[in-house]
Amino acid sequence: MTGPGGGESPRVVIARDVLRAGVRRVADEIAAAHPDGVLLIAVLKGSVPFTADLIRSLTVPVEVDFLAISAYAPDSGRVRIVKDLDADIYGRAVVLVEDIVDTGLTLAYVRGELERRAPASLEVCTLLDRAPRRILPTPLRYVGFEIGDEFVLGYGLDFEERYRHLDHVVAGDVHALRSDPDVYAAHFFAG
Ligand code: PRP
Repeated sequence: MTGPGGGESPRVVIARDVLRAGVRRVADEIAAAHPDGVLLIAVLKGSVPFTADLIRSLTVPVEVDFLAISAYAPDSGRVRIVKDLDADIYGRAVVLVEDIVDTGLTLAYVRGELERRAPASLEVCTLLDRAPRRILPTPLRYVGFEIGDEFVLGYGLDFEERYRHLDHVVAGDVHALRSDPDVYAAHFFAG
């Protein structure tokens, strides 16, 4: 489909208003479970927009910290921490925030690392649960939206660092993106 700027238009999967309502619902669920407050740990980079909106929707005391991880090799599921937490999570109520859980391999690694630090509780919150791609089943306490096995962009999710800025989630044609990562640029940028 051709967009207003003449470029290709990706299909909207989660519209802005639906996304906002989903974030508020998740924030309410977290607040209800943690009336005394919570420490959110966001896994960079994709979870940044979700985390930013989540903390502004929470009605309980909240702290936020960040973790950056890097894959050793594509699809190996082996990752390492490249930016560790500032906070000591011992004895804390912690919610790990992800933008998307696919295979579950990243989450399994991060969860293991954090559990060794003995938080009082460790729950997982993900904006998107792409369960058809799961390899390691893993408990997800808070889920914004379940999606099918399609390639998604926006609201933190990228293709080669592009499209993270969108305020909604779209489905991208991965073949078109591989041949031209800017295939949707004209749709999202004026001029
Ligand atoms: C994404 C996402 C998770 C991971 C999920 O990160 O934020 O960390 O992939 O995949 P998995 O369940 O198959 O392990 P990505 O590697 O795209 O990094 P980014 O957040 O910096 O874009």
